[in-house]
Amino acid sequence: MTKVTDDLQKQFDAIAEQFTLESSIVFLTGAGISSESGIPTFRGKGGLWEKYDPAEYATAEALRLRPEKVWEMHDELRQTIANQKPNQAHLAIAELENIFKNFTVITQNVDNYHQDAGSSNVLELHGNAWRVKCTAEGHSWVDKTVPFNELPPKCSCGAPLRPDVVFFNEPLDPEVLDLAFSMASNAEIMFVVGTSFIVYPAAYVPVIAKQNGAIVLEFNLEPTALSSFADYSIFGAAGKTLPKLVEKLKAKFKSKKNK
Ligand code: OAD
Repeated sequence: MTKVTDDLQKQFDAIAEQFTLESSIVFLTGAGISSESGIPTFRGKGGLWEKYDPAEYATAEALRLRPEKVWEMHDELRQTIANQKPNQAHLAIAELENIFKNFTVITQNVDNYHQDAGSSNVLELHGNAWRVKCTAEGHSWVDKTVPFNELPPKCSCGAPLRPDVVFFNEPLDPEVLDLAFSMASNAEIMFVVGTSFIVYPAAYVPVIAKQNGAIVLEFNLEPTALSSFADYSIFGAAGKTLPKLVEKLKAKFKSKKNK
């Protein structure tokens, strides 16, 4: 369990100094933010890619050749998401949105937990697990059935459905990606929470932010390739560390408003 030490409190004091009410704040989140909710991450011990080979379960080719296998993993993930809920880190981020006007969450996650926690300005780089898409007609919609009776589930036109998420070797939605890069280039404070920082193009987001002068704050259990250029790296469980910083920011801006 992460203990928020005096040192960390001092670091949070220094970080809080950097914020004004007008600060443009951008978050990039990854699977690690949902791990305390009980959603498995992708890499590392117990990660999804240890149990499921991405080549067999998460590529466009696998979807074409063996859609039932791709859906097997996805249906299980949907059940896990349905049975769990957002944690303190998601809730802390949603609280920050109430303080700062310029605020965006860019997420690689498909679990919808930021929105469930109350965040309204969320860009999903890799899609959303609750959305399904007709492989024949291309339209997509939300379907919260868990589990599906047959895999792959079918559209009313008879064609198999696919999860409306991004698989390996598939491009990201260019509009969403452009918007994410534009938010990153205007960011003054860039938070990076619970990502291994090895999957592109998502990993460009903090790089673009830093190149354009943002202060980069990393929250992770352990060092990543980002740690060498982040301005601050806070190591510990995000559900413990992030709420502490948010409390500090709430106190700072509450007292300012009261003056
Ligand atoms: P990863 O599984 O690669 O990395 C999770 C990161 O979260 C690791 O760096 C962990 O140390 C960290 N972590 C775990 N628990 C944490 C906690 N409680 N608090 C803070 N940090 C914690 O997940 P992503 O970086 O999100 O893409 O992976 C990126 C993409 O790779 C995913 O979106 C997915 C995958 O292939 C697609 O499916 C397209």
